[in-house]
Amino acid sequence: MGGILPLVSLGALFLASTTASAPTDSATASATKLCVQLQIPVPVVATNYHYDQPQVDSSIDAMDWTVNVTTWSSSNFTARITGRVDINKTFEIGAQLCVPSQKTSKAGILQITTPGLGFGREYFDVEVDPRQYSYVDAAINKGYSILSYDRLGTGRSEKPDAYDDVQIPVEIEILAGLTKIARSGNLLSSSKAPSATNNASAEFDFLPTKIVHIGHSFGSYINSLMLTNHPDLIDGAIFTGLYPNNIEATDPLNVLNYNHAFAKESDPVRFAEYGSGYFVLDNEETLQKLFFQKATLDPALLTYAESIKQPEAVGEYSSEDGNPLAPAPDYKGPLMFFVGEFDNFVCNGNCSGIYSEAFARQLYPGVAIDDLTYYLQPNTGHASMLSTNASAGYEVMLEFLDFRGL
Ligand SMILES: *[C@@H]1O[C@H](CO)[C@@H](O)[C@H](O)[C@H]1NC(C)=O
Ligand SMILES: *[C@@H]1O[C@H](CO)[C@@H](O)[C@H](O)[C@H]1NC(C)=O
Ligand SMILES: *[C@@H]1O[C@H](CO)[C@@H](O)[C@H](O)[C@H]1NC(C)=O
Ligand SMILES: *[C@@H]1O[C@H](CO)[C@@H](O)[C@H](O)[C@H]1NC(C)=O
Ligand SMILES: *[C@@H]1O[C@H](CO)[C@@H](O)[C@H](O)[C@H]1NC(C)=O
Ligand SMILES: *[C@@H]1O[C@H](CO)[C@@H](O)[C@H](O)[C@H]1NC(C)=O
Repeated sequence: MGGILPLVSLGALFLASTTASAPTDSATASATKLCVQLQIPVPVVATNYHYDQPQVDSSIDAMDWTVNVTTWSSSNFTARITGRVDINKTFEIGAQLCVPSQKTSKAGILQITTPGLGFGREYFDVEVDPRQYSYVDAAINKGYSILSYDRLGTGRSEKPDAYDDVQIPVEIEILAGLTKIARSGNLLSSSKAPSATNNASAEFDFLPTKIVHIGHSFGSYINSLMLTNHPDLIDGAIFTGLYPNNIEATDPLNVLNYNHAFAKESDPVRFAEYGSGYFVLDNEETLQKLFFQKATLDPALLTYAESIKQPEAVGEYSSEDGNPLAPAPDYKGPLMFFVGEFDNFVCNGNCSGIYSEAFARQLYPGVAIDDLTYYLQPNTGHASMLSTNASAGYEVMLEFLDFRGL
């Protein structure tokens, strides 16, 4: 079976203000987005594991960890398990809910975005020329409502134990939990941010008719595993930066090929809240290598990526081996894989000719043939939403949904 993402290689990808604020009106194009910042407690029951791996408390440790886990003769993570960790906790998740200023036929459809490793919710809501680059703006322009959240351990979300708490099984249940809260119309009422609950206008308080998930990279991976465990929660999905393929022959990008620094050492002010086990992609060169393609690279966006990058927890890497992509036979909604043609991270630089229909169908046998599809965004790298041609890609994604009644 081909890989969707190389193992021990889920590098990166984005920061948020720490205070809840009243609805803001960031007028851009024709439709205006009204947004409210939320802090949502999400109860999680999941099974994690404790892994034998070096501690990361400095940038020297970060490199030592990288070499340790990629040493050819070393044990894989499954073989490093030393115990089971039963999680039964409530984690606080930071999120932004945006709705179109005018009621539209699509306003009942809620999109929920999950960013990849290295980025927070800003990945989907680029602040550099948002009219052109923000996916949130593009979706609002078509009339959708959209919830963008920070994955556990990033942005305004809680930053718990990076080894034992921040692992794939917990992130799957957080996404499922948030989706259930949204489904029941309780996003606003469950939020702990007082100004959101006390002062948000009525349009934020709605019962979605349909829910669509949009992921990027590791976020798409979490989404995919959520469909295995909770096939009935959503009505449609687009996985960006995730690609069913069969390139065993190529050498997938390995965590040894890019550098992590200990987050707090790398930027003691910006990453002050990040303790042991949180590291961050070191600089713009690393971000370029993993996420950009020169043909569609705007230096301002590379600088922006560096300014919004987010730390990663080592537990996200150590839980990969034990949580491979698995079939989601009961998921029946439409699904598109949307990938940059020259994605270095997922396709070792060239995605043409390697899509595996067989693998995709093996994962999603319940999806109608015409509803399971892929799209290669020309001349683009792993971070398609940070490329100069991003907005043309959003048209392709949003048409895919619209065509299917979403
Ligand atoms: C990797 O780290 C573990 C401790 O977590 C240690 O037992 C092992 O010897 C190290 N492996 C190498 C190759 O350094
Ligand atoms: C990891 O190691 C265990 C035990 O050595 C082995 O059974 C398993 O197949 C390995 N997994 C992978 C993904 O290589
Ligand atoms: C989780 O904790 C709650 C309260 O402590 C308890 O009622 C519940 O049974 C626990 N759930 C599991 C699956 O252990
Ligand atoms: C509440 O939000 C409205 C905009 O929706 C704003 O005009 C008003 O000043 C806010 N009130 C408070 C107390 O923040
Ligand atoms: C990418 O791979 C395809 C299929 O092998 C090939 O036709 C194409 O020339 C390659 N593109 C580049 C830029 O190498
Ligand atoms: C921009 O993206 C659109 C949609 O994928 C595509 O049709 C077009 O060819 C792209 N333009 C360039 C210059 O790559």
